[in-house]
Amino acid sequence: MTNVQTPHIKPNGVEIAETILLPGDPLRAKFIAETFLENPVCFNEVRGMLGYTGTYKGKKISVMGTGMGPGSIGIYTYELIHFFGVKNLIRIGTCGSLQENVKLYDIILGMASSTNTNYLHQYNIPGQLSLPASFELLTKAHNIGLEKGAKMHVGNILCSDIFYNADKDAMKNWMKMGVLGVEMESTALYANAIAAGVNALTILTVSDSLVTGEETTPEERQTAFTKMMEIALELA
Ligand code: HPA
Repeated sequence: MTNVQTPHIKPNGVEIAETILLPGDPLRAKFIAETFLENPVCFNEVRGMLGYTGTYKGKKISVMGTGMGPGSIGIYTYELIHFFGVKNLIRIGTCGSLQENVKLYDIILGMASSTNTNYLHQYNIPGQLSLPASFELLTKAHNIGLEKGAKMHVGNILCSDIFYNADKDAMKNWMKMGVLGVEMESTALYANAIAAGVNALTILTVSDSLVTGEETTPEERQTAFTKMMEIALELA
């Protein structure tokens, strides 16, 4: 399997682990590999979408950037699952809070992904498909988070195609329906995983609030990110 290449991932013989952490930012993937993994080896540089494989507490794990939006994460996760045999895909990202009680730096476990993208049209579902996270990864992450004293919320998240929305009320009805936070990748990740019978989970740190308008600084995000990272790494 290690000699496989795809248009977007060329590992040159470096193995990709069955469990992979997926930040949006490829430089974040590099940071995670260099900070938390033992013996990290780079497996991808195509389009600067850096990926690494190493070990964490003796277990093999990979980490790779996904880029932003369903289209980008859709490509990478499809190739990881179908060409490289990846079985557990854990997105670690940031989101905007859609609820008053979901505060900056809180962690959200995306139990389900709602969306405004057209990504799901390819499956020709005669209705609205709901997209759950892997129950196994979700419960495991929740238990690890509880042990670490993380402030977590578990529920529905919104995967949006649009960051700068022309409609200033676009989030209003998602908020009313109890959606916890907005990000831009979970639907494509969950759909690809479900269609292939593998496991996926989205773990998010709240980086801004669409309720209060508050934002975090990059330095503050780093600290909050570490807690989320620790949960994700323990899933390996
Ligand atoms: N919208 C979409 N994605 C995001 C946001 C947001 O406000 N914050 C972090 N990721």
